[in-house]
Amino acid sequence: MQVATVANHMLRVAVNGYGTIGKRVADAVCVQPDMELIGVAKVRPDYVATGAAHAGYPLYTVDPAHTDSFRQNGIEVAGPLEELVETSDIVVDTTPGGIGIQNRPLYEQCETPALFQGGEAPDVADVSFNSRVNFEDAIGVDYVRVVSCNTTGLSRLLGPLAEFVGIEKARVTLIRRGGDPNQTDRGPINDVVPDPVTVPSHHGPDVQTVFPGLSIDTIGLKVPTTQMHVHVVNVTLNAPAAEADVRERLEREPRLVLVPGSAEIDGTGTLKEFARDSGRPRGDIWENCIWEESITVDGREFYCVQAIHQEADVVPENIDALRAVAGTHSGPESRTLTNRTLGIGFERFQQPPTTVADRPTAD
Ligand SMILES: NC(=O)c1ccc[n+]([C@@H]2O[C@H](COP(=O)([O-])OP(=O)(O)OC[C@H]3O[C@@H](n4cnc5c(N)ncnc54)[C@H](OP(=O)(O)O)[C@@H]3O)[C@@H](O)[C@H]2O)c1
Repeated sequence: MQVATVANHMLRVAVNGYGTIGKRVADAVCVQPDMELIGVAKVRPDYVATGAAHAGYPLYTVDPAHTDSFRQNGIEVAGPLEELVETSDIVVDTTPGGIGIQNRPLYEQCETPALFQGGEAPDVADVSFNSRVNFEDAIGVDYVRVVSCNTTGLSRLLGPLAEFVGIEKARVTLIRRGGDPNQTDRGPINDVVPDPVTVPSHHGPDVQTVFPGLSIDTIGLKVPTTQMHVHVVNVTLNAPAAEADVRERLEREPRLVLVPGSAEIDGTGTLKEFARDSGRPRGDIWENCIWEESITVDGREFYCVQAIHQEADVVPENIDALRAVAGTHSGPESRTLTNRTLGIGFERFQQPPTTVADRPTAD
């Protein structure tokens, strides 16, 4: 397979599906020293396509019948999707849930490995992936599914807890954003909807795709916000632990940010505002944000409340999954590189917002 030969050159990455996740993955690929974005593919010549053109990304069409409408909108088309897949070492498929499985035959035909996303069923790929929990399982594997935003957020938190004292049982209530900011068709709404109303929600079984054998029950609700998901987590640990030790263990994880009470970040709105003020691209928060004051350990019972930015947390996971498939780095090496290039980490998130005085002068 082509990707086996990439150790000596830049990994040529294609993004099929330049939407909420795809545009962020494309930007993240561009700042990696070992990767090259060779193009992105899209169906419609809308404002997002204009954004790709402004970013200088070669834009390929999923349906060549639309080529003229792209050109009429002043957007240059580099070619059809098939050409993009043929010329890449690996494709990140970020099409809507259920479309990735339809694309897999094309990737197989072109002998191009691919990453799929959490909207696909687990059997779309050979491995469901979370960088912190099972990077090694994806090394050299051709088809890998990067799990959903919620599953990513839960796996990152439960992984260190399992290593530290072990988990007897995890119970999580997921308060899920009703839609992304651009999903106008999901609103307006004014409701709180158990979704699904049955227990467990699909999230628990999905966490088990990267964490086999974990005992976990999840309940899901949807609320009318586009900001972030919030998880209310209770874990029964295998043994009693000191709260300070658990806190210290979580603090060591770069993709877990403990939000201090002193920051006065009292909800997902202020969290997103802080990210924007900090200069994060698109206001993205790649890390789990755990309200530090919510961390409570009572004997074997651990509790916390964390916020997950659904549009962003899977982005570093996709970058790590690319390296796993290419077989060029170990998990720790890849995570360190991804964290550094994206600017992930507690220190950066703690930086005070840029002030006018900090800005460089014109000369
Ligand atoms: N959004 C989230 O919060 C989130 C979080 C984690 C994981 N995910 C998963 O990531 C995947 C992508 O989600 P997303 O929210 O980024 O989707 P999205 O914003 O709707 O973007 C999907 C992109 O795929 C393109 N596309 C390519 N082939 C297509 C086809 N045959 N039919 C329709 N569209 C096609 C669309 O093109 P046009 O725009 O031109 O139509 C669009 O650019 C899904 O599996 C989803 O479950 C999403």
